[in-house]
Amino acid sequence: MITEAKEINFHKQELKGRSFLTLADYSQNEINYLIDLADYIKKQKREGIAFEPLKGKTLGMIFEKSSTRTRVSFEAGIYQLGGLGIFLSSKDIQIGRGETIADTAQVLSGYLDGIMIRTFSQETVEELAAKSSIPVINGLTDLYHPCQVLADLQTIKEIKGKLQDIKVVYIGDGNNMAHSLMIGAAKMGIELVIAAPEGYHPDTSVTDKAKAIASEHHAKVSIEANPFEAVKHADVIYTDVWASMGQEAEQLKREKDFAGYQVNAALIENAKEEAIFMHCLPAHRGEEVTAEVIDGKQSVVFQQAENRLHAQKALMTALMG
Ligand code: CP
Ligand code: NVA
Repeated sequence: MITEAKEINFHKQELKGRSFLTLADYSQNEINYLIDLADYIKKQKREGIAFEPLKGKTLGMIFEKSSTRTRVSFEAGIYQLGGLGIFLSSKDIQIGRGETIADTAQVLSGYLDGIMIRTFSQETVEELAAKSSIPVINGLTDLYHPCQVLADLQTIKEIKGKLQDIKVVYIGDGNNMAHSLMIGAAKMGIELVIAAPEGYHPDTSVTDKAKAIASEHHAKVSIEANPFEAVKHADVIYTDVWASMGQEAEQLKREKDFAGYQVNAALIENAKEEAIFMHCLPAHRGEEVTAEVIDGKQSVVFQQAENRLHAQKALMTALMG
């Protein structure tokens, strides 16, 4: 095995010490840098070249919700970068027994070099970052899922060769995924259409913010009721579960309310022939997407999932390196 990574030859952005709470805080150049670094890290790994800029560094990973991809990709990622990941379930740490976020932030800042947190409210992540002296990474809140969208942007660029002049259509719930896609698309000059039923539109504050960002980046963010209209000329069709973590009690109501918003073969026939299907996973086959589509040839969901590893290794390298 070769142990020396080659010189990074794309324009470096200085991100050391920053937190990653939403893509709204990052410029187009900074996001492009993270995507380029993720591609580089992926290639190094494929070639068996060790890339260990975080030797001796430690990442704490607080989880107040379940996870497969986020947990495993962060833990494997920090290890591959030469560091250590510590899994901190809220069931086991004192947060679960009422210790404040502010105290936790200050204590963990004395031990660690970075914190990744998956929780309910975005305010919790913001408070953690405000009270920590080390970078905090948002591993999903009810409002945003920026790590997923960073990997998704890498995936779209990898497949389509570009991010500009791309139309992404998100079908379903105006949730954390929809919100982060709106912000990410707006930043990167992507046209994004959200097709969601009445009552499940994205938050107005996020929509307003995304539209304002879009106007500065030749991007377009809009909401459309009819999924068949929305997917016309789409390069990417994206969906997510109808009931997110914490909404389990609404499952049956949501199944009824989202009828007509399933991504199936009839729907994707209306998109471009070379359109790809994306889903952050976990997926519910037979609900938001049919097995035929998610297991079909247009689906790139496992490439997306793999890119979580590379994109987050880039993020940790840039923030904690
Ligand atoms: N997409 C995603 O974040 O998956 P996990 O919930 O498994 O982490
Ligand atoms: N919207 C989903 C995304 C899971 C990765 C949820 O919050 O449960």
